[in-house]
Amino acid sequence: MVTLDATSHQHLLTIQGHIAGGLQGKIQIPGDKSVSHRALMLGALASGTTSIRGLLLGEDPRSTAACFRAMGAQISELNETEVTVVGIGGQLQEPADVLNAGNSGTTLRLMLGILAAQPGLFFTVTGDASLRSRPMSRVVKPLLQMGAEIWGRDSGDRAPLAVRGQALQPIYYTLPVASAQIKSCLLLASLFCQGETQITEPMASRDHSERMLRAFGAQLSVDPGTRTISLQGPAQLTAQPVTVPGDISSAAFWLVAASIVPGSEILIENVGVNPTRTGILDALTQMGADVTQLNVREVAGEPVADLRVRSTALKACTLEGEIIPKLIDEIPILAVAAAFAQGRTVIRDAAELRVKESDRIAVMARELNRLGAQVTELPDGLEIQGGCPLTGAEVDSYDDHRVAMSLAIAALQAKGMTQIARAQSAAVSYPNFVPTLTRLLG
Ligand code: S3P
Repeated sequence: MVTLDATSHQHLLTIQGHIAGGLQGKIQIPGDKSVSHRALMLGALASGTTSIRGLLLGEDPRSTAACFRAMGAQISELNETEVTVVGIGGQLQEPADVLNAGNSGTTLRLMLGILAAQPGLFFTVTGDASLRSRPMSRVVKPLLQMGAEIWGRDSGDRAPLAVRGQALQPIYYTLPVASAQIKSCLLLASLFCQGETQITEPMASRDHSERMLRAFGAQLSVDPGTRTISLQGPAQLTAQPVTVPGDISSAAFWLVAASIVPGSEILIENVGVNPTRTGILDALTQMGADVTQLNVREVAGEPVADLRVRSTALKACTLEGEIIPKLIDEIPILAVAAAFAQGRTVIRDAAELRVKESDRIAVMARELNRLGAQVTELPDGLEIQGGCPLTGAEVDSYDDHRVAMSLAIAALQAKGMTQIARAQSAAVSYPNFVPTLTRLLG
Protein backbone atom coordinates (compact mmCIF):
# COMPACT_ATOMS: atom_id res chain seq x y z
CA MET A 1 0.00 0.00 0.00
CA VAL A 2 1.31 3.46 -0.96
CA THR A 3 -0.22 6.74 0.20
CA LEU A 4 0.99 10.29 -0.19
CA ASP A 5 -0.51 12.76 2.27
CA ALA A 6 -0.05 16.00 0.37
CA THR A 7 -2.12 17.89 2.96
CA SER A 8 0.20 17.19 5.85
CA HIS A 9 2.84 19.74 6.67
CA GLN A 10 5.50 17.05 6.16
CA HIS A 11 4.17 15.68 2.82
CA LEU A 12 4.50 12.15 4.15
CA LEU A 13 4.76 9.24 1.74
CA THR A 14 3.76 6.03 3.52
CA ILE A 15 4.81 2.68 2.10
CA GLN A 16 3.96 -0.76 3.40
CA GLY A 17 6.85 -3.05 2.50
CA HIS A 18 7.08 -6.69 1.45
CA ILE A 19 4.07 -6.70 -0.87
CA ALA A 20 3.38 -10.05 -2.52
CA GLY A 21 3.48 -10.34 -6.29
CA GLY A 22 6.20 -7.90 -7.30
CA LEU A 23 5.96 -4.92 -9.63
CA GLN A 24 4.42 -5.59 -13.01
CA GLY A 25 3.67 -3.54 -16.08
CA LYS A 26 4.66 -1.44 -19.05
CA ILE A 27 5.41 2.20 -18.32
CA GLN A 28 6.48 5.43 -19.94
CA ILE A 29 8.78 7.67 -17.97
CA PRO A 30 8.87 11.47 -18.02
CA GLY A 31 11.12 13.40 -20.38
CA ASP A 32 14.83 13.79 -19.71
CA LYS A 33 15.49 16.71 -17.37
CA SER A 34 18.83 17.71 -18.90
CA VAL A 35 17.49 17.63 -22.46
CA SER A 36 14.33 19.53 -21.41
CA HIS A 37 16.33 22.43 -19.93
CA ARG A 38 18.54 22.65 -22.99
CA ALA A 39 15.62 22.53 -25.44
CA LEU A 40 13.94 25.45 -23.64
CA MET A 41 17.15 27.49 -23.46
CA LEU A 42 18.33 26.95 -27.03
CA GLY A 43 14.77 27.48 -28.28
CA ALA A 44 14.67 30.78 -26.38
CA LEU A 45 17.96 31.96 -27.94
CA ALA A 46 17.30 30.78 -31.52
CA SER A 47 15.61 32.56 -34.42
CA GLY A 48 12.24 31.02 -35.21
CA THR A 49 9.88 28.65 -33.43
CA THR A 50 11.19 25.52 -31.75
CA SER A 51 8.69 22.78 -31.04
CA ILE A 52 9.45 20.40 -28.17
CA ARG A 53 7.79 17.00 -27.79
CA GLY A 54 7.98 15.04 -24.56
CA LEU A 55 9.19 17.91 -22.35
CA LEU A 56 9.54 17.03 -18.66
CA LEU A 57 6.76 18.78 -16.75
CA GLY A 58 8.72 18.74 -13.49
CA GLU A 59 9.40 21.79 -11.38
CA ASP A 60 12.96 22.24 -12.68
CA PRO A 61 12.07 22.83 -16.36
CA ARG A 62 9.19 25.03 -15.18
CA SER A 63 11.81 27.23 -13.50
CA THR A 64 13.79 27.42 -16.75
CA ALA A 65 10.66 28.31 -18.74
CA ALA A 66 9.69 31.04 -16.26
CA CYS A 67 13.17 32.63 -16.37
CA PHE A 68 13.31 32.75 -20.18
CA ARG A 69 9.73 34.02 -20.47
CA ALA A 70 10.80 36.89 -18.23
CA MET A 71 13.56 37.68 -20.78
CA GLY A 72 11.33 37.83 -23.86
CA ALA A 73 11.04 34.24 -25.14
CA GLN A 74 7.45 33.25 -25.92
CA ILE A 75 7.02 29.80 -24.44
CA SER A 76 3.59 28.17 -24.72
CA GLU A 77 1.91 26.49 -21.78
CA LEU A 78 4.01 23.45 -20.82
CA ASN A 79 2.61 20.07 -21.83
CA GLU A 80 4.03 16.76 -23.03
CA THR A 81 2.49 16.85 -26.51
CA GLU A 82 4.01 20.01 -27.92
CA VAL A 83 5.58 23.09 -26.37
CA THR A 84 6.46 25.91 -28.74
CA VAL A 85 9.22 28.39 -28.03
CA VAL A 86 9.45 31.55 -30.11
CA GLY A 87 13.08 32.54 -29.67
CA ILE A 88 14.46 36.03 -29.33
CA GLY A 89 17.04 35.36 -32.09
CA GLY A 90 19.42 37.98 -30.70
CA GLN A 91 19.77 39.78 -27.40
CA LEU A 92 17.57 38.87 -24.46
CA GLN A 93 15.38 41.47 -22.77
CA GLU A 94 16.33 42.71 -19.32
CA PRO A 95 13.92 41.07 -16.85
CA ALA A 96 11.99 43.45 -14.62
CA ASP A 97 12.47 41.25 -11.55
CA VAL A 98 14.74 38.65 -9.95
CA LEU A 99 15.12 35.41 -11.97
CA ASN A 100 14.29 32.45 -9.74
CA ALA A 101 15.80 29.05 -10.64
CA GLY A 102 13.95 27.28 -7.78
CA ASN A 103 15.69 24.00 -6.93
CA SER A 104 17.45 23.73 -10.28
CA GLY A 105 21.25 23.89 -10.44
CA THR A 106 21.10 23.31 -14.20
CA THR A 107 18.83 26.34 -14.72
CA LEU A 108 21.02 28.64 -12.66
CA ARG A 109 24.43 27.50 -13.86
CA LEU A 110 23.60 27.23 -17.57
CA MET A 111 21.65 30.49 -17.55
CA LEU A 112 24.57 32.36 -15.96
CA GLY A 113 26.65 31.73 -19.10
CA ILE A 114 23.95 33.37 -21.21
CA LEU A 115 23.27 36.30 -18.88
CA ALA A 116 26.95 37.17 -18.46
CA ALA A 117 27.18 37.64 -22.25
CA GLN A 118 24.31 40.16 -22.71
CA PRO A 119 26.11 43.54 -22.91
CA GLY A 120 24.52 46.35 -20.95
CA LEU A 121 21.79 44.28 -19.26
CA PHE A 122 21.45 43.75 -15.52
CA PHE A 123 20.19 40.54 -13.91
CA THR A 124 19.72 39.18 -10.42
CA VAL A 125 19.33 35.43 -9.98
CA THR A 126 18.40 33.29 -7.01
CA GLY A 127 16.94 29.92 -6.06
CA ASP A 128 15.47 27.96 -3.14
CA ALA A 129 17.36 27.32 0.11
CA SER A 130 19.11 24.24 -1.34
CA LEU A 131 20.26 26.04 -4.49
CA ARG A 132 21.40 29.10 -2.52
CA SER A 133 23.72 26.83 -0.54
CA ARG A 134 25.34 25.23 -3.62
CA PRO A 135 28.70 26.37 -5.07
CA MET A 136 28.57 28.76 -8.03
CA SER A 137 32.25 29.74 -8.24
CA ARG A 138 32.79 26.71 -10.50
CA VAL A 139 30.98 28.66 -13.23
CA VAL A 140 31.55 32.21 -11.97
CA LYS A 141 35.36 31.86 -11.98
CA PRO A 142 35.79 30.93 -15.66
CA LEU A 143 33.10 33.45 -16.64
CA LEU A 144 35.08 36.19 -14.85
CA GLN A 145 38.13 35.07 -16.85
CA MET A 146 36.05 35.67 -19.99
CA GLY A 147 35.38 39.22 -18.80
CA ALA A 148 32.05 38.73 -17.00
CA GLU A 149 30.89 40.95 -14.15
CA ILE A 150 29.20 38.85 -11.47
CA TRP A 151 28.78 39.50 -7.76
CA GLY A 152 27.34 37.31 -5.03
CA ARG A 153 27.56 36.11 -1.47
CA ASP A 154 30.79 34.35 -0.40
CA SER A 155 32.83 36.20 -3.06
CA GLY A 156 30.42 35.18 -5.80
CA ASP A 157 30.19 31.52 -4.76
CA ARG A 158 26.53 31.56 -3.62
CA ALA A 159 23.27 32.91 -5.01
CA PRO A 160 21.67 35.40 -4.98
CA LEU A 161 24.00 36.67 -7.69
CA ALA A 162 23.99 39.91 -9.64
CA VAL A 163 25.20 40.00 -13.25
CA ARG A 164 26.06 42.99 -15.43
CA GLY A 165 26.22 41.61 -18.99
CA GLN A 166 29.41 42.23 -20.98
CA ALA A 167 30.93 41.44 -24.38
CA LEU A 168 32.88 38.33 -23.36
CA GLN A 169 36.17 36.99 -24.71
CA PRO A 170 36.64 33.34 -25.73
CA ILE A 171 38.53 31.11 -23.32
CA TYR A 172 40.62 27.91 -23.32
CA TYR A 173 39.54 26.19 -20.14
CA THR A 174 40.16 22.81 -18.51
CA LEU A 175 37.35 21.86 -16.15
CA PRO A 176 38.51 21.07 -12.60
CA VAL A 177 35.72 18.44 -12.27
CA ALA A 178 33.78 16.44 -14.87
CA SER A 179 30.65 18.58 -14.86
CA ALA A 180 28.18 18.98 -17.71
CA GLN A 181 26.80 22.08 -16.01
CA ILE A 182 30.14 23.93 -16.06
CA LYS A 183 30.87 22.77 -19.61
CA SER A 184 27.41 23.82 -20.82
CA CYS A 185 27.54 27.19 -19.06
CA LEU A 186 30.78 28.04 -20.87
CA LEU A 187 29.56 26.72 -24.22
CA LEU A 188 26.45 28.91 -23.93
CA ALA A 189 28.60 31.95 -23.07
CA SER A 190 30.88 31.19 -26.02
CA LEU A 191 27.92 31.45 -28.43
CA PHE A 192 28.16 35.23 -27.92
CA CYS A 193 31.99 35.52 -28.18
CA GLN A 194 34.05 36.52 -31.21
CA GLY A 195 36.43 33.59 -31.87
CA GLU A 196 37.04 30.06 -30.69
CA THR A 197 36.39 28.78 -27.17
CA GLN A 198 37.93 25.44 -26.15
CA ILE A 199 36.79 23.44 -23.16
CA THR A 200 38.57 20.28 -22.00
CA GLU A 201 36.96 17.77 -19.64
CA PRO A 202 38.95 15.54 -17.25
CA MET A 203 36.41 12.74 -17.86
CA ALA A 204 33.42 12.48 -20.19
CA SER A 205 30.21 14.00 -18.77
CA ARG A 206 26.77 14.09 -20.41
CA ASP A 207 27.00 15.59 -23.90
CA HIS A 208 23.43 16.75 -24.55
CA SER A 209 24.56 20.37 -24.96
CA GLU A 210 27.10 19.48 -27.64
CA ARG A 211 24.53 17.42 -29.59
CA MET A 212 21.80 20.02 -29.39
CA LEU A 213 24.02 23.04 -30.08
CA ARG A 214 25.20 21.36 -33.26
CA ALA A 215 21.61 20.55 -34.26
CA PHE A 216 20.69 24.25 -33.75
CA GLY A 217 23.52 25.27 -36.09
CA ALA A 218 26.47 26.11 -33.82
CA GLN A 219 29.94 25.35 -35.24
CA LEU A 220 31.07 22.89 -32.62
CA SER A 221 33.58 20.06 -32.84
CA VAL A 222 34.77 17.50 -30.30
CA ASP A 223 38.20 15.86 -30.16
CA PRO A 224 37.44 12.55 -28.41
CA GLY A 225 41.16 11.88 -27.79
CA THR A 226 41.76 14.98 -25.68
CA ARG A 227 38.08 15.45 -24.71
CA THR A 228 38.27 19.03 -25.99
CA ILE A 229 35.19 20.79 -27.32
CA SER A 230 35.72 23.76 -29.65
CA LEU A 231 33.02 26.29 -30.47
CA GLN A 232 33.42 29.06 -33.01
CA GLY A 233 31.50 32.18 -32.03
CA PRO A 234 29.45 34.15 -32.53
CA ALA A 235 26.76 31.61 -33.38
CA GLN A 236 23.35 32.22 -34.91
CA LEU A 237 21.06 29.47 -33.64
CA THR A 238 18.11 28.38 -35.75
CA ALA A 239 14.96 26.86 -34.23
CA GLN A 240 14.68 23.07 -34.51
CA PRO A 241 12.14 20.42 -33.54
CA VAL A 242 13.28 18.56 -30.41
CA THR A 243 11.97 15.19 -29.20
CA VAL A 244 12.93 14.66 -25.58
CA PRO A 245 13.74 11.02 -24.71
CA GLY A 246 12.55 9.46 -21.44
CA ASP A 247 14.91 10.18 -18.54
CA ILE A 248 17.20 7.24 -17.70
CA SER A 249 17.70 8.85 -14.28
CA SER A 250 13.96 8.36 -13.65
CA ALA A 251 13.97 4.88 -15.21
CA ALA A 252 16.72 3.99 -12.70
CA PHE A 253 14.20 3.81 -9.83
CA TRP A 254 12.21 1.12 -11.65
CA LEU A 255 15.33 -0.73 -12.79
CA VAL A 256 16.35 -1.13 -9.16
CA ALA A 257 12.80 -1.68 -7.83
CA ALA A 258 12.13 -4.53 -10.26
CA SER A 259 15.58 -6.02 -9.54
CA ILE A 260 15.12 -6.18 -5.76
CA VAL A 261 11.39 -6.98 -5.40
CA PRO A 262 10.95 -10.73 -6.15
CA GLY A 263 8.51 -11.62 -8.91
CA SER A 264 8.83 -8.28 -10.76
CA GLU A 265 8.96 -7.59 -14.47
CA ILE A 266 8.72 -4.08 -15.93
CA LEU A 267 9.04 -2.81 -19.48
CA ILE A 268 10.14 0.84 -19.54
CA GLU A 269 9.51 2.40 -22.93
CA ASN A 270 11.42 5.13 -24.74
CA VAL A 271 14.42 5.61 -22.42
CA GLY A 272 17.35 7.82 -23.48
CA VAL A 273 20.47 5.63 -23.62
CA ASN A 274 23.06 8.25 -24.56
CA PRO A 275 26.38 6.53 -23.66
CA THR A 276 27.33 9.44 -21.37
CA ARG A 277 24.30 8.52 -19.23
CA THR A 278 24.20 4.72 -19.17
CA GLY A 279 26.56 4.09 -16.25
CA ILE A 280 23.51 2.79 -14.34
CA LEU A 281 23.07 -0.01 -16.91
CA ASP A 282 26.76 -0.96 -16.69
CA ALA A 283 26.67 -0.92 -12.88
CA LEU A 284 23.51 -3.04 -12.70
CA THR A 285 24.99 -5.50 -15.21
CA GLN A 286 28.09 -5.81 -12.98
CA MET A 287 25.72 -6.52 -10.09
CA GLY A 288 24.08 -9.35 -12.02
CA ALA A 289 20.78 -7.57 -12.77
CA ASP A 290 18.51 -8.86 -15.53
CA VAL A 291 18.15 -5.74 -17.73
CA THR A 292 17.77 -5.94 -21.52
CA GLN A 293 17.81 -3.09 -24.05
CA LEU A 294 15.19 -3.65 -26.75
CA ASN A 295 14.39 -1.79 -29.95
CA VAL A 296 17.45 0.50 -29.80
CA ARG A 297 16.92 3.46 -32.14
CA GLU A 298 17.87 7.12 -32.60
CA VAL A 299 15.31 9.88 -32.01
CA ALA A 300 16.22 13.50 -32.79
CA GLY A 301 19.95 12.93 -32.33
CA GLU A 302 19.75 10.94 -29.08
CA PRO A 303 19.87 7.12 -28.80
CA VAL A 304 16.72 5.60 -27.27
CA ALA A 305 15.69 2.06 -26.21
CA ASP A 306 13.01 0.18 -24.29
CA LEU A 307 14.36 -1.46 -21.15
CA ARG A 308 13.04 -4.73 -19.78
CA VAL A 309 13.97 -5.59 -16.21
CA ARG A 310 13.21 -8.70 -14.16
CA SER A 311 13.96 -9.45 -10.53
CA THR A 312 17.12 -11.35 -9.74
CA ALA A 313 19.66 -11.78 -6.94
CA LEU A 314 22.19 -8.92 -6.98
CA LYS A 315 25.86 -9.02 -5.99
CA ALA A 316 28.09 -6.21 -4.73
CA CYS A 317 30.34 -4.18 -7.02
CA THR A 318 32.95 -1.42 -6.96
CA LEU A 319 32.18 1.87 -8.73
CA GLU A 320 34.96 4.42 -9.22
CA GLY A 321 36.78 6.49 -11.86
CA GLU A 322 35.39 7.18 -15.32
CA ILE A 323 32.01 5.53 -14.73
CA ILE A 324 31.09 8.00 -11.95
CA PRO A 325 30.06 11.00 -14.13
CA LYS A 326 27.96 8.57 -16.21
CA LEU A 327 25.84 7.60 -13.20
CA ILE A 328 26.31 10.55 -10.85
CA ASP A 329 22.56 11.13 -10.35
CA GLU A 330 21.88 7.40 -9.93
CA ILE A 331 24.16 6.83 -6.93
CA PRO A 332 21.34 7.24 -4.36
CA ILE A 333 19.28 4.48 -6.03
CA LEU A 334 22.41 2.36 -6.63
CA ALA A 335 23.07 2.58 -2.89
CA VAL A 336 19.62 1.02 -2.41
CA ALA A 337 20.47 -1.75 -4.90
CA ALA A 338 23.73 -2.33 -3.00
CA ALA A 339 21.85 -2.65 0.31
CA PHE A 340 20.03 -5.67 -1.18
CA ALA A 341 23.09 -7.16 -2.93
CA GLN A 342 25.30 -9.91 -1.49
CA GLY A 343 28.66 -8.50 -0.38
CA ARG A 344 30.28 -5.12 0.18
CA THR A 345 29.76 -2.42 -2.47
CA VAL A 346 32.25 0.46 -2.60
CA ILE A 347 31.53 3.75 -4.39
CA ARG A 348 34.44 6.22 -4.66
CA ASP A 349 35.42 9.35 -6.64
CA ALA A 350 31.94 10.76 -6.10
CA ALA A 351 32.66 13.76 -3.84
CA GLU A 352 30.44 15.81 -6.19
CA LEU A 353 27.47 14.15 -4.46
CA ARG A 354 28.13 16.36 -1.46
CA VAL A 355 27.10 19.47 -3.43
CA LYS A 356 23.95 18.16 -5.12
CA GLU A 357 20.38 19.08 -4.06
CA SER A 358 21.45 17.67 -0.65
CA ASP A 359 24.70 16.13 0.59
CA ARG A 360 23.71 12.82 -0.94
CA ILE A 361 26.57 10.89 0.69
CA ALA A 362 25.59 11.94 4.21
CA VAL A 363 21.83 11.77 3.65
CA MET A 364 21.75 8.35 1.95
CA ALA A 365 24.05 6.83 4.59
CA ARG A 366 21.99 8.22 7.46
CA GLU A 367 18.54 7.46 6.08
CA LEU A 368 19.36 3.93 4.81
CA ASN A 369 20.90 3.15 8.20
CA ARG A 370 17.62 4.22 9.84
CA LEU A 371 15.99 1.41 7.85
CA GLY A 372 18.58 -1.05 9.19
CA ALA A 373 21.10 -1.01 6.34
CA GLN A 374 24.87 -0.94 7.01
CA VAL A 375 26.17 2.06 5.12
CA THR A 376 29.43 3.89 5.89
CA GLU A 377 30.21 7.37 4.61
CA LEU A 378 33.52 7.86 2.79
CA PRO A 379 34.80 11.38 2.04
CA ASP A 380 34.05 10.74 -1.65
CA GLY A 381 31.51 7.92 -1.60
CA LEU A 382 29.83 5.12 0.30
CA GLU A 383 30.55 1.61 1.52
CA ILE A 384 27.48 -0.58 1.74
CA GLN A 385 27.37 -3.99 3.35
CA GLY A 386 24.52 -5.65 1.49
CA GLY A 387 22.08 -8.27 2.66
CA CYS A 388 21.06 -6.79 6.03
CA PRO A 389 17.27 -7.10 6.44
CA LEU A 390 15.57 -3.67 6.36
CA THR A 391 12.74 -2.62 8.66
CA GLY A 392 10.30 0.23 8.05
CA ALA A 393 11.06 3.51 9.85
CA GLU A 394 10.55 7.28 9.67
CA VAL A 395 13.01 8.76 7.17
CA ASP A 396 13.50 12.14 5.51
CA SER A 397 14.26 13.14 1.92
CA TYR A 398 15.74 16.49 3.02
CA ASP A 399 13.79 17.98 0.10
CA ASP A 400 15.96 16.08 -2.38
CA HIS A 401 13.89 14.48 -5.15
CA ARG A 402 16.27 11.60 -5.86
CA VAL A 403 16.63 10.79 -2.15
CA ALA A 404 12.82 10.72 -1.72
CA MET A 405 12.35 8.27 -4.60
CA SER A 406 15.34 6.10 -3.62
CA LEU A 407 13.99 5.72 -0.08
CA ALA A 408 10.55 4.82 -1.47
CA ILE A 409 12.11 1.96 -3.45
CA ALA A 410 14.09 0.76 -0.40
CA ALA A 411 10.84 0.84 1.63
CA LEU A 412 9.23 -1.68 -0.76
CA GLN A 413 11.57 -4.33 0.62
CA ALA A 414 11.61 -3.15 4.26
CA LYS A 415 9.47 -5.07 6.75
CA GLY A 416 6.53 -2.99 7.99
CA MET A 417 5.72 0.63 7.32
CA THR A 418 8.08 3.40 6.19
CA GLN A 419 7.17 7.08 6.27
CA ILE A 420 9.20 9.43 4.06
CA ALA A 421 9.02 13.11 5.00
CA ARG A 422 9.11 15.89 2.39
CA ALA A 423 8.33 13.39 -0.37
CA GLN A 424 6.72 16.07 -2.55
CA SER A 425 10.28 16.88 -3.69
CA ALA A 426 9.91 14.00 -6.21
CA ALA A 427 7.97 16.47 -8.40
CA VAL A 428 11.22 18.26 -9.25
CA SER A 429 12.02 15.52 -11.79
CA TYR A 430 9.18 12.97 -11.59
CA PRO A 431 5.72 14.43 -10.87
CA ASN A 432 3.99 11.05 -11.50
CA PHE A 433 6.30 8.93 -9.39
CA VAL A 434 3.72 7.92 -6.75
CA PRO A 435 0.86 7.12 -9.20
CA THR A 436 3.31 5.06 -11.31
CA LEU A 437 4.48 3.14 -8.24
CA THR A 438 0.87 2.47 -7.25
CA ARG A 439 0.07 1.20 -10.75
CA LEU A 440 3.09 -1.12 -10.85
CA LEU A 441 2.08 -2.60 -7.52
CA GLY A 442 -1.27 -3.55 -9.14
C1 S3P B 1 23.25 18.05 -15.20
C2 S3P B 1 24.54 17.76 -14.87
C3 S3P B 1 24.92 17.07 -13.62
C4 S3P B 1 23.73 16.39 -12.98
C5 S3P B 1 22.51 17.27 -12.95
C6 S3P B 1 22.11 17.67 -14.36
C7 S3P B 1 23.00 18.76 -16.48
O1 S3P B 1 25.44 18.01 -12.71
O2 S3P B 1 24.05 15.97 -11.67
O3 S3P B 1 21.41 16.59 -12.35
O4 S3P B 1 21.84 18.79 -16.93
O5 S3P B 1 23.95 19.29 -17.05
P1 S3P B 1 27.01 18.43 -12.70
O6 S3P B 1 27.33 19.06 -13.99
O7 S3P B 1 27.15 19.36 -11.54
O8 S3P B 1 27.75 17.13 -12.50
